[in-house]
Amino acid sequence: MQLFLDTANLDEIREIAAWGVLDGITTNPSLVGKEKSDFKKLVQEICKIVPGPVSAEVVATDAEGMIKEGRSIATWAENVIVKCPLTPAGLQATSTLAKDGIRVNVTLCFSTNQALLAANAGAYFVSPFVGRLDDINQDGSALIAEIAQMFSIHAIETQVLAASIRTPVHVTSAALAGADIATMPYKVFKQLVHHPLTDKGVESFMADWAKVKDVVGSVG
Ligand code: E4P
Repeated sequence: MQLFLDTANLDEIREIAAWGVLDGITTNPSLVGKEKSDFKKLVQEICKIVPGPVSAEVVATDAEGMIKEGRSIATWAENVIVKCPLTPAGLQATSTLAKDGIRVNVTLCFSTNQALLAANAGAYFVSPFVGRLDDINQDGSALIAEIAQMFSIHAIETQVLAASIRTPVHVTSAALAGADIATMPYKVFKQLVHHPLTDKGVESFMADWAKVKDVVGSVG
């Protein structure tokens, strides 16, 4: 399963990209708004740091406006993905943009039937929101499993991008449920790598090494 970072913050992106395990970026109008930067320049900068897919969302709410914005966003960088909401207008825009050969991430998906509609419209990614479903006492991880199963049965090529991830447990659940990608905030990405026994182990190995460093010589 690929791992994406859900942020528009360049410092966060540079830090995680340096680990060599970052496959792509998702943004949304709220995340971009936090950065208080020019939208196009920010997305182009992100696209230079991360060679994988970088999602940038339209802000029009009518199909015509989404298509116009989507066509413009698609010219910003080779690896940019246009993000459209899962509304009737968003489906219409997705269908038109997909026919133009533009890759679309259909976002704000909360049901299996919505995912099917996104796929049939030609979505490259569909983004079911795990955390926001959990927030209203529904099982977000179960939705990922159901969509992955349906796409597998029907050999649907649209990739399942588990979004609104709030915890490392969500990441594991998305992977086991068959998601193609999980996108998560910086905090969750950092949580994935840490384990108290790893930190303790490094500390004790280094302490033992320090005791004998004059005997064992230097490494490299
Ligand atoms: C990503 O594509 C989504 O916009 C994002 O994961 C939403 O996350 P949130 O529910 O934590 O805002």
